[in-house]
Amino acid sequence: PKQPVKVLVTGAAGQIGYAIVAMIARGLMLGPDQPVILHMLDLPRAAEALDGVRMELIDAALPLLRGVLATSDEAEAFQGVSVAVLIGGWPRKEGMERKDLIAKNVSIYKSQASALQQHAAPNCKVVLVANPANTNALVLKEFGPSIPAKNITCLTRLDHNRALGQVAEKLNVHVGDVKNAIIWGNHSSTQFPDASHATARTDLGEKPVKQLVADEKWLKEEFVSTVQQRGAAVIKARKQSSSLSAASAACDHVRDWILGTPKGTWVSMGVYSDGSYGVPEGLFYSFPVTCEKGEWSIVQGLQIDDFARSKMEASANELEEEKSIAMNIL
Ligand code: NAI
Repeated sequence: PKQPVKVLVTGAAGQIGYAIVAMIARGLMLGPDQPVILHMLDLPRAAEALDGVRMELIDAALPLLRGVLATSDEAEAFQGVSVAVLIGGWPRKEGMERKDLIAKNVSIYKSQASALQQHAAPNCKVVLVANPANTNALVLKEFGPSIPAKNITCLTRLDHNRALGQVAEKLNVHVGDVKNAIIWGNHSSTQFPDASHATARTDLGEKPVKQLVADEKWLKEEFVSTVQQRGAAVIKARKQSSSLSAASAACDHVRDWILGTPKGTWVSMGVYSDGSYGVPEGLFYSFPVTCEKGEWSIVQGLQIDDFARSKMEASANELEEEKSIAMNIL
């Protein structure tokens, strides 16, 4: 039998945290035969709520769940974890400027960088969910110099899954038959959702989505803005931000990273740029990646037209700007 793996969830008393802990404990992140020990971190003021989550996990009688730790102590939370899902942070409040949001959140990740370095298992895989996700990942990298860049990622899988969902609805096919959409750039409204390399399985076999949709205007305008604005649309409808879809996407992200992407399929992940596709090195930027044996690699050689190029650059520029705001604050 497999040894249990310790998985850290920060912000575990929050909305996404509440949705994701059960998913992890049911094997949706690491596989149906992998026992887990959950470490849940939240602020002291949320300690009581967090303890309630711990009680519910016990009450769910989950066979894969071999232990639950609920704590507000960073050192204890990071101790020995092999996977860290970092969701803890502050949402944007009305009237808050982006600069204020960045200020409030990046300082969390400066402190957690040292906890991660000192206490996590070597080779711990990290996914940053909390916003600004890409820039928080960068802060973790800058203030955790001993953490290999390849072990730090940020979540754009929700945007990727949203893109697959929009294409599936448009073509009236099952979402499982659509693949290889791409989210380029920042997890923000400047991201570039790109379906120009995507394919869908139909009765006639695997076909380019471009050809099946046969509506360039839809692909360049409506599709792009719907995916970019989907988070806002969910908030408007639900009066709360996306949480079950975010939790589900974070499970997909870690599962594919560790267990591998299916042959011929790529997914989108925010990773440390090596300069691929002309994206400046040293930014956390969402790229198409394939994963094998626990390592991601950026898909190379895709054709980028002028339209795509300008969208990709705009998102890179925003990330440069976020980086300088963050570094000035810290
Ligand atoms: P929430 O406000 O319900 O939960 C956040 C939790 O983090 C709270 O319980 C809070 O007490 C806790 N927290 C704050 N500072 C902390 C710290 N230093 N250490 C540990 N815990 C801390 O928010 P929700 O809806 O769960 O969202 C969490 C984050 O995820 C937000 O930053 C949100 O913007 C982001 N998000 C990212 C998505 C993505 O695709 N990358 C999608 C949806 C949300």
